[in-house]
Amino acid sequence: MAAAVHVIDHPLVQHKLTLLRKKTTSTAEFRRLLGELSALMAYEVTRDLPLREVAIETPVAATTGRMIDGRKVALIAVLRAGIGLLDGMLTVVPGARVGHVGLYRDERTLRPIEYYLRLPRDMRDRDAIVIDPMLATGHSAIAALDRVAASRPRSLRFVCLVSAPEGLANLRERHPDVPIFTAAIDERLNEHGYIVPGLGDAGDRYFGTKA
Ligand code: URA
Repeated sequence: MAAAVHVIDHPLVQHKLTLLRKKTTSTAEFRRLLGELSALMAYEVTRDLPLREVAIETPVAATTGRMIDGRKVALIAVLRAGIGLLDGMLTVVPGARVGHVGLYRDERTLRPIEYYLRLPRDMRDRDAIVIDPMLATGHSAIAALDRVAASRPRSLRFVCLVSAPEGLANLRERHPDVPIFTAAIDERLNEHGYIVPGLGDAGDRYFGTKA
């Protein structure tokens, strides 16, 4: 059975996503909202990480607590828009290791071209979370997950903010075992490969690179 698609419908996430989508939202506001959204999403994405018992001493007594088992989480940002989700997630998982997969989209074929790959060491001991705000055709997400899956992490998840049905279907076909976390499943892709209604080009809006 294929892993679940988790739609994070927490009211705070939905409220901030609506503000983020608005075309009048400034670059500064877009960055702030994306940071807050990614921190909120990190809670959901890490909900089932395995825990182990540890012995500790409080100022009052010896006790046992629970801590995340194994090595640090690996956050893998798909360049460049995935960077927009990184800081917010790191506020919640500050010890995470960070990797990058550099992909750009050939505007004619809409296919991803890889230009950079750097993953943390010891991926086999890590829970990997691949992050990219927009799941459109799914081609970039599939290419990134192919690369990260080949490093054999202990577990693998994918997080995006907005997804298109086409991208979800493609991703689930290629990586049926990877749980997907998204804040919204939108209507469709347009002829330019943009998600409708979406929020436009997440990279351009985050970096302020569109005139
Ligand atoms: N990438 C984006 O940034 N936005 C889309 O709508 C589709 C792909």
